[in-house]
Amino acid sequence: MKVVTVKDQVEGGALALDILREKVAVGAQTLGLATGSSPLEFYKQVRESDLDFSQMTSVNLDEYVGLTAEDPQSYRYFMQENLFDAKPFKVSYLPDGTAEDKEAEVVRYNEILKAHPVDFQILGIGRNGHIGFNEPGTSFEQETSIVDLQESTIEANARFFEDISQVPTQAYSMGIKNILSAKTIVLFAYGVDKAKAIQGMVEGPVTEDMPASALQNHADVVIIADEAATSLLTK
Ligand code: GLP
Repeated sequence: MKVVTVKDQVEGGALALDILREKVAVGAQTLGLATGSSPLEFYKQVRESDLDFSQMTSVNLDEYVGLTAEDPQSYRYFMQENLFDAKPFKVSYLPDGTAEDKEAEVVRYNEILKAHPVDFQILGIGRNGHIGFNEPGTSFEQETSIVDLQESTIEANARFFEDISQVPTQAYSMGIKNILSAKTIVLFAYGVDKAKAIQGMVEGPVTEDMPASALQNHADVVIIADEAATSLLTK
């Protein structure tokens, strides 16, 4: 796992864009995408770039259960706004938050992931070390599932909603096993709120209590973080 400390999101976004360009140049077909505030500047730079995804596929990490694609809080909406409207893919997959049969939706999404192995995966990290919505305690063998969100995650994500009571309590999330199968992983982390999670992920034991520590077992991970997020690292 390689940790690169950057000045800010602009520098971090530029670095990730360079890595993406390299991967696209050598034939990357499928991008794994994430929502949240951490990849925002990266998406901005991608939108302004000359990259063309019209022959490529994207798969997203997660989606809230119950939100429609038109709901401004849904991850589908986020992706349309921040990337897809400007840079359409041939196909973009996200779990369908409104699927009537939730178990069938989980099966469908795992099949999509098997058919489209991810070449380049973007990740953020939760304050408790979650990746996607894989909360502490999730098995590293987990594939896509319906997750009950922890109180701390609901609180952290409430800032995007008018009221905490509007934050969905469940989400579909790719599992850690799905995430680890990506060829290259780039994880963004900014701000002191992420420092503990970054320390656990990089220097702590590989344990299901710290979902992101699973990335220590992956051969090609780049952590792009600012000084505040890396402030608790000792090496
Ligand atoms: C949410 C998402 C994660 C994201 C995390 C961090 O819980 N499901 O995919 O990485 O939040 O978000 P942010 O980048 O806004 O700090």
